[in-house]
Amino acid sequence: MTIVTASDGAGRDVGVTANSFNSVSLDPPMVLWSLARKSASLPVFAQSSHFAVHILAADQEDLSDRFARSGPDKFAGIALERGAGGAPLLPGAAARFQCRTAFQHDGGDHVIFVGEVETFERSARAPLAFHGGRYAVAARKAASLSEASPAPVEPKTFGEDFLGYLLGRADLQVTGRLRPVLERLGLAPREHFVLSAIGTFGEVTPARLAATPGFTGQRLCLDETQALIERGMIARDAAGSLSLSEAGRAAFVELTAAAMAIEDDIADGLDETELAMLRHLLKRVIAATDPATSGGRMVAEEGLEPPTRGL
Ligand SMILES: Cc1cc2nc3c(=O)[nH]c(=O)nc-3n(C[C@H](O)[C@H](O)[C@H](O)COP(=O)(O)O)c2cc1C
Repeated sequence: MTIVTASDGAGRDVGVTANSFNSVSLDPPMVLWSLARKSASLPVFAQSSHFAVHILAADQEDLSDRFARSGPDKFAGIALERGAGGAPLLPGAAARFQCRTAFQHDGGDHVIFVGEVETFERSARAPLAFHGGRYAVAARKAASLSEASPAPVEPKTFGEDFLGYLLGRADLQVTGRLRPVLERLGLAPREHFVLSAIGTFGEVTPARLAATPGFTGQRLCLDETQALIERGMIARDAAGSLSLSEAGRAAFVELTAAAMAIEDDIADGLDETELAMLRHLLKRVIAATDPATSGGRMVAEEGLEPPTRGL
């Protein structure tokens, strides 16, 4: 997805969401995109010497929606820079091309703009794609995928492409790296959950804590909370609100640092697009298997079901 912008040099900025963007030539570097003749922005694009193409990042759906609607205030509240020919430059894009308008061709009910690229900037951000009428993220395929699973796996047998195996092993290996820290701090996994939930929310009422399964997938357990209060890691005030004590906060900070180091190691082996795709697919697996929602088709299991009792 792209947003193409231009300015008429007299204070009128225009910008449109476009997926007609394409490369044309490497030498000289040229790109094209097409604009509907009915677009209110056409007069400005037709007369401006330059335009800027923003390849949107995977998290810029809102910006794409904003520039897909006609209206005078598309740029309201956005911190703009200025590019060649005064074209407004939007922040946060995966890449930006600043182009001199080289040609305008008839394209039926569209005008085809061909630009010669004068400046090109790129970031490591994953691009926002559009596929099957919806926003999408793009990921590498082919070689990297076949390298990951060289041996063909018989369908419907338990093997190394079995999703349950992949998710389970990934969970074991990722959370397993936290185990030495938990052991040193003397925390059981469920105590870790209670500590993390209170550390994340700050001061929290038992009712709010009881509502956390939607976020964590874990069931609140009164026994663990009570045990942490007795060990001086959680404090309960007169109104019943729970918060971390000094010792609890120190443990929380140490665990968070360890978890972030693990996250960094996972991210090291993946590019931004793959990371965005991994997060997206894991969220879909969580939604599809969440017994707390109608989306969940799996039978609720111990530790995954909504709480049946609060504090
Ligand atoms: C996914 C998507 C892709 C689009 N691609 C184009 C395009 O390539 N060319 C175009 O003229 N309009 C395209 N549009 C529509 C324009 O963004 C929209 O008509 C434009 O913002 C109208 O603004 P204006 O009338 O202020 O110029 C697209 C919209 C969406 C949602």
